[in-house]
Amino acid sequence: MGQVLIYDHPLIQHKIAMLRDKNTSTKDFRELVSEIAMLMCYEVTRDLPLKDVDVETPIGIAHEKMLAGKDICFVPVLRAGLGMVDGVLSLVPSARVGHIGLYRDPDTLEPVEYYCKLPVDVADRAVVVLDPMLATGGSASAAISFIKQRGAKDIKLMNLIAAPEGIDRVVEDHPDVDIFCAAVDKELNSHAYIVPGLGDAGDRLFGTK
Ligand code: PRP
Ligand code: URA
Repeated sequence: MGQVLIYDHPLIQHKIAMLRDKNTSTKDFRELVSEIAMLMCYEVTRDLPLKDVDVETPIGIAHEKMLAGKDICFVPVLRAGLGMVDGVLSLVPSARVGHIGLYRDPDTLEPVEYYCKLPVDVADRAVVVLDPMLATGGSASAAISFIKQRGAKDIKLMNLIAAPEGIDRVVEDHPDVDIFCAAVDKELNSHAYIVPGLGDAGDRLFGTK
């Protein structure tokens, strides 16, 4: 059974408050999304496997541990997930990056796929799906299904703000996936926007509205 981890770290809470503010500029919004993603990544990577290594220091041999096996693959859900990529790559610079393009049909609110490019060896990697918003959960659930179809088994989901409905949907569709959220809000409105949320994450990141 997957776990749902809600962050309570003061730095993350502080930055989430700034992110929500409707007066936060596009530039600051981008920086905050990236910084929060980087801070969240610390916990998301906690169970990465390690191997023993001997390191020659100027004085002697240190018995240490380093990451073992293949690197993580981060998969941002386009568009808004792109804003989280730089932050997570600053912690895991050798990670691979796949992309899944989905948008929510404004009438049906169902996710529509328009792009999918994943590393050929994604099945052997730990995959972390990146999307700032988990609203109905339709986009995240569809993205995870695409990744599973390519054989990946170790999948985590990282969201900045989630609605309870979205968490329930992903837990139901993908009970094996751990979910990491910086904040969980009250509800969705009639347009399936998270309340209070932060508005449209893609538009705020890219300044398209
Ligand atoms: C947003 C967000 C998620 C999705 C969440 O993307 O980035 O991908 O909505 O909603 P859901 O949980 O109800 O599926 P959007 O469709 O607005 O596309 P964009 O990132 O290109 O702006
Ligand atoms: N997508 C967003 O960008 N914001 C929401 O509140 C819901 C979905």
